[in-house]
Amino acid sequence: MSFPDGFVWGVSTSAFQIEGATSADGRGPSIWDAFLADHAGACDHYHRYRDDVGLIRDLGVSAYRFSVSWARVLPDGEKVNPAGLDFYDRLVDELLGAGVAPYATLYHWDLPQALEDLGGWPSRDTAHRFADYAAAVHERLGDRVDTWFTLNEPWVAAFLGYGAGRHAPGRTSPADAFRSAHHLLLAHGLGARALRAAGAAKVGTVLNISPVMTPAQVGDPARPLAEEDAEAVARIDVLANRQFLEPLLRGAYPDELLPVVERACGDLGHVRDGDLEIINQPLDLLGVNYYTPLVVQAQPSEPADPAWPGSEGVLFCTVPTAVTAMGWPIVPDCLTRLLRRLSGEYPDLDLMVTENGADFVDVVTGDGIHDVDRVHFLEEHLRAVRSAIDDGARVRGYLVWTLLDNLEWADGYRRKFGLYHVDFATQRRRPKDSALWYRDVIRRGALPPTRPKRPTLETVAARAGVSRATVSRVVNGEAAVSAQVRAAVLRAVNEVGYVPNAAARSLVTRRTNAVALVLSVPRPGGDALTAAVVQYVTSVLEGAGKHITLMLADTAESHRRIVAHVEAGQVDGIVLLPPERADTLAERLARTGVPVVLLGKPAITSLVPYVDVDNAGGAVAATEHLLAAGRRRIGMVCGPMDLVTVQDRLEGHRAALARAGLRPHLAFADLTRDSGAAATRRLLADDPSLDAVFAATDQLAVGALRGAREAGLRVPEDLAVVGFGDGDAASATTPALTTVRVPVADQALALARLLLSRLEGRSTTPVVLPTRLVVRESA
Ligand code: FCB
Repeated sequence: MSFPDGFVWGVSTSAFQIEGATSADGRGPSIWDAFLADHAGACDHYHRYRDDVGLIRDLGVSAYRFSVSWARVLPDGEKVNPAGLDFYDRLVDELLGAGVAPYATLYHWDLPQALEDLGGWPSRDTAHRFADYAAAVHERLGDRVDTWFTLNEPWVAAFLGYGAGRHAPGRTSPADAFRSAHHLLLAHGLGARALRAAGAAKVGTVLNISPVMTPAQVGDPARPLAEEDAEAVARIDVLANRQFLEPLLRGAYPDELLPVVERACGDLGHVRDGDLEIINQPLDLLGVNYYTPLVVQAQPSEPADPAWPGSEGVLFCTVPTAVTAMGWPIVPDCLTRLLRRLSGEYPDLDLMVTENGADFVDVVTGDGIHDVDRVHFLEEHLRAVRSAIDDGARVRGYLVWTLLDNLEWADGYRRKFGLYHVDFATQRRRPKDSALWYRDVIRRGALPPTRPKRPTLETVAARAGVSRATVSRVVNGEAAVSAQVRAAVLRAVNEVGYVPNAAARSLVTRRTNAVALVLSVPRPGGDALTAAVVQYVTSVLEGAGKHITLMLADTAESHRRIVAHVEAGQVDGIVLLPPERADTLAERLARTGVPVVLLGKPAITSLVPYVDVDNAGGAVAATEHLLAAGRRRIGMVCGPMDLVTVQDRLEGHRAALARAGLRPHLAFADLTRDSGAAATRRLLADDPSLDAVFAATDQLAVGALRGAREAGLRVPEDLAVVGFGDGDAASATTPALTTVRVPVADQALALARLLLSRLEGRSTTPVVLPTRLVVRESA
């Protein structure tokens, strides 16, 4: 598994994510300073760059890709600040002194706020400013920097920044997003021309090209598609990839794109004659950032995702594969497919993987950070690169994202992509096992034959100073352990990075290839979810060669029967839709040692992995929506408080109200429509001027609509109603309900995937899927 001579090994970072020192030496604010309320000092790389270059040198890489902060160089967008350039001057000298080639990216998303104030990327002038900025940086560093990348991932800057509002500057206009995309491309063209004129040796740009496919094609790329799915795939490929590749490399937008842009913008006036020639500059290198594929299918009623204007009728799906802590499916093979495709379509183009890496939950132990999942991820992706090279793809290098744990944009500091761990309290850096592993790969120019070993249950017991049996009890979520011991064991688990190892277990026990799907009802949003779970879990697990046994857990007797079945060694794994009320079934099943995965966060913290949705976040969105509409007297129809789901929804509601200086006003109900109506009547009796109701489930919301009608109130004029759960009922009521959409199929897929990971002995952190507010007439 060796790589060609001259293959560039490297590591990438970006200015805003590591530098800190946001007002040092005359730096001006960037859109990200304005967008994130409190982002503190990142990695303080601005002051620690010497030590950090030491870490880069220790890896043995030949290249380091960093980005230049535009707001340091031109704080007000106009006048060059020499002190800002001094920093990059020092950095470049330090890198050259360490024998590392500096690769400079000019725009990694941190536009000076001054230019945003003048219109930002939707304004054409920003592209011209970029060219001036590129020239200024080249003038200072061009004698020592050979390799220049104009932009990083213009899709993200345009569509997450100006379309979905999830990134700075947080605008939400499809027209602004498309105009930004064009002006970013124009900036590339003007910037590339300026760099070239100034004598730059190599000019490239960096795109996040994402392979687009249906769920079935993830495992089977050649799978033929239904016409409507093929159309969905093609449309997203245009928006994600061809929108950028073709102007850059062919000097034309794809024909399919222009009508979409025209519809969003009203006209195509921002694309002027001559722009495409400017954009189509010769490229020495195309940087490709790859993390995960885009998986889509046709879904007639689906509204366009705000990040994807023009994506009406396309559903973005999850797939039954392992995921990183970001929830991004891990599909190394897609990197091979992507590199092959690019080399096939653009045979003369040199490619470089300019970013690839993964967020996993890291655990610091006394003897290191054993990030086996990250090592595995990098290894599999490097194998994927190697296969593409074998197939003739012109891949000149591979740069890991990223050097240090850093400020992951809107996600803040909780994402961990670094080869080096950073303790943000002290700024201490420590190499993770992945850093040491990468260093060895570089030294050999080849992938190693073996993988690192995982810590065992014994390691945890020794660390916590308790018996192996106690550890096993805690790991399996049994109640009969004191809170103190539980905390100590969970701490030790974290410290040594223990992952319950079902694979080892399966070596010593007989395999049945059977999996039990244990269902118990009711749950909030129950039926649709149960149906989807049965459907998806069964198809994914059957696809993986398992036999499914469906078992109903509705009585004490059935619980006994299920446990006996599992204890008798009849199944290899269990998917449990647990009753959320205090119940011992999950605990009893976990104690059998057979891998269990749960739907819904359990009441007792344990290592039994589960899949849940972001209930609190959904309730925040629902409540903030009511507040933004001017509602102030908001009541909540709450479900039974022994349901963890309901507790989480209440918590989100309470938090959003608290931020607005309001207190909750609750009425309790069971899960039926009738009790939702009754609770609404009680809320109105308590406070006749109530102007909104947030109901903890969709059924309760349907009840709330009835309660309002019975009280003679008009919805939404007198009383706005928001529910939770976007089942069929939501769109069938009058008026149609505003609700929080819970990704039903995704939960089921995640559950199946989690069980497969457990059966393979892979890391199994809980999966919490995002929810989304769907606004209809009722609020
Ligand atoms: C890429 C960005 C990089 C980082 C990684 C995780 O899209 O270029 O800054 O956020 O994702």
